Amino acid sequence: MQHSQKPIHRTPLSPMIEIKRIGHVGIQVPNVEHVAAFYENIVGLEISDRVDGSIFLRCNEQHHCLGLYPAAERGLHHLGLEVHDATAVECVREALRELGLEPIPDEDPHPGIGESVCCRDPDGNCLKFYEGMHHVDRPLLPREVQPVKFGHITYHTIDLKRTLAFYIDVLGFRLSDTVEGNMLAWVRCNQDHHGIAFLNDGQAKVNHYCFDLTDWHAIKETCDHLKRNQVPIIYGPSRHGPGDNIFLYIPDPAGNVIELSTEMLQVSDELSYRPQDWPNAPGTVDVWRAMPAPQHFLDGNGRDFHDWSAGSAVIGAGWHVLEAGDFRALDPAAQITTPTPELPEFTIDIPKFTLGAKNPVDHVKALIRADRRFAAGTGLAAGVDIAVQVHGTAANPYDADPDDPRLGSGSIALIDDSAGIVLNFEISNRRIMALRELFVVSAPAGAADSVKPMADPVMIDLLIEPGSWHRYEIRYYPGDDALLAPGPDRAEWYVDGELVHAVDWVATIDPPAAPVIKPARFTVNMAIFTLLDDLSDGRGGTIPGLDPGYEQTLFGQGVTSRWRNLEVTEIADKWHLQKEG
Ligand SMILES: [Fe+2]
Repeated sequence: MQHSQKPIHRTPLSPMIEIKRIGHVGIQVPNVEHVAAFYENIVGLEISDRVDGSIFLRCNEQHHCLGLYPAAERGLHHLGLEVHDATAVECVREALRELGLEPIPDEDPHPGIGESVCCRDPDGNCLKFYEGMHHVDRPLLPREVQPVKFGHITYHTIDLKRTLAFYIDVLGFRLSDTVEGNMLAWVRCNQDHHGIAFLNDGQAKVNHYCFDLTDWHAIKETCDHLKRNQVPIIYGPSRHGPGDNIFLYIPDPAGNVIELSTEMLQVSDELSYRPQDWPNAPGTVDVWRAMPAPQHFLDGNGRDFHDWSAGSAVIGAGWHVLEAGDFRALDPAAQITTPTPELPEFTIDIPKFTLGAKNPVDHVKALIRADRRFAAGTGLAAGVDIAVQVHGTAANPYDADPDDPRLGSGSIALIDDSAGIVLNFEISNRRIMALRELFVVSAPAGAADSVKPMADPVMIDLLIEPGSWHRYEIRYYPGDDALLAPGPDRAEWYVDGELVHAVDWVATIDPPAAPVIKPARFTVNMAIFTLLDDLSDGRGGTIPGLDPGYEQTLFGQGVTSRWRNLEVTEIADKWHLQKEG
């Protein structure tokens, strides 16, 4: 494809369509309130409207630059393309009809705009053409960082040639730049170098969307603000070659990638602008440092779903999560109640959740983490009284009776997230499982062996009455050796004070590959989820294969779990390693 050789000013097939600007984006997210709070507090937008569970946010006098729509999964709701007036909307409607592109229904609420019409692009993305957006008279509240306008969106596209034909020939966009002919392309509808970009990789989804900041100083302020709020910067700050803009990328809590950018190249002279075909090299997207972009960002994921190391987005550093007392619930939808002297019960209520097969972040959603860490080698015991009830009624893919009390389950785990040891205690209402797992913290993202189960699970059949209280406890006795060198260790699992399983082992853990050798720290995790391991036909379950991805072990139901008398005790009097701090 030789776009760089084409005439510089194109005449669209349908000259009636003229896009004024990329005005806003509508994004579907699972937890609208939670995500909106992030855009307010971290990105610096301001909520301007709420309609039927959707939240609209603005960054200037225009009614909104971002719409958040409730949905089970994150994804594009629509891209807002502003046209000049109501007549222009009618022209779009007519032009689409002429081209055989029937407008699609536009039923979701959309305050702040006038007439509009929607269609789908060749990848199925919903485009909303609308006339001028309402102005909000009241001034914006001062914020530490404040974007000034919606910038652009970058899509993955199935077929770049087909997509460019649509955006250029039908919608009147102009080609701004490409990489290697057809790997990437940037297009513009006004003098901003790009309003839309496309990654040609056979997928149809959003890679990221961008809000523009005033200047380089605002980028600096933003970086400081992100650091103060523990929001990781995925990539940048640096300068892009195509577009010449300074950029940085951050994740939002739903897993979207957001770009914050400034100094985009202005194409003020359409007649003399020539698109450039850039090489596929790190220096093209990262001019200052030529650093390759992380894979999860290239995939359009704000979080690295494979990174289980301490402080990673998967585990939750930098994420706003529900907090109560010493505990943090990594599922923002979870309601947690901390114990009081009158009622020494720690209650977690997760109204509904979905734990996917191969998506660790879904697994994490049901984890409740004690916000305490311990130096390794202390010798630890963690124990709780647990009663679990399942109250969900949602359909599930395994035809399991959602009211079957056997499906209720809980677990406690001691996790050393630097050495990669998990001592786990999984409890369903009929069985318990003690297991020691090893996972490899330093495995490359996406590596199939990033979680390696070890081979000493023990199943014990018990008849546990649904909702009854039992005390489950793990004790860990480290040896005298240095943590990452061979040496003896012991772990014990107790039910109601009775030893049900013990493991002695000699640590032969491969030290994590650089750069993640961290001080060893244990975290006490508790998880609640529904297990399929008791299903009569034997489908799923953590028992038979110890599936490293927990495939088919979990699915979404509402669960209430009550944890009584939680204790975390140090059981040895000497430090195994230097105590941190
Ligand atoms: Fe971008």
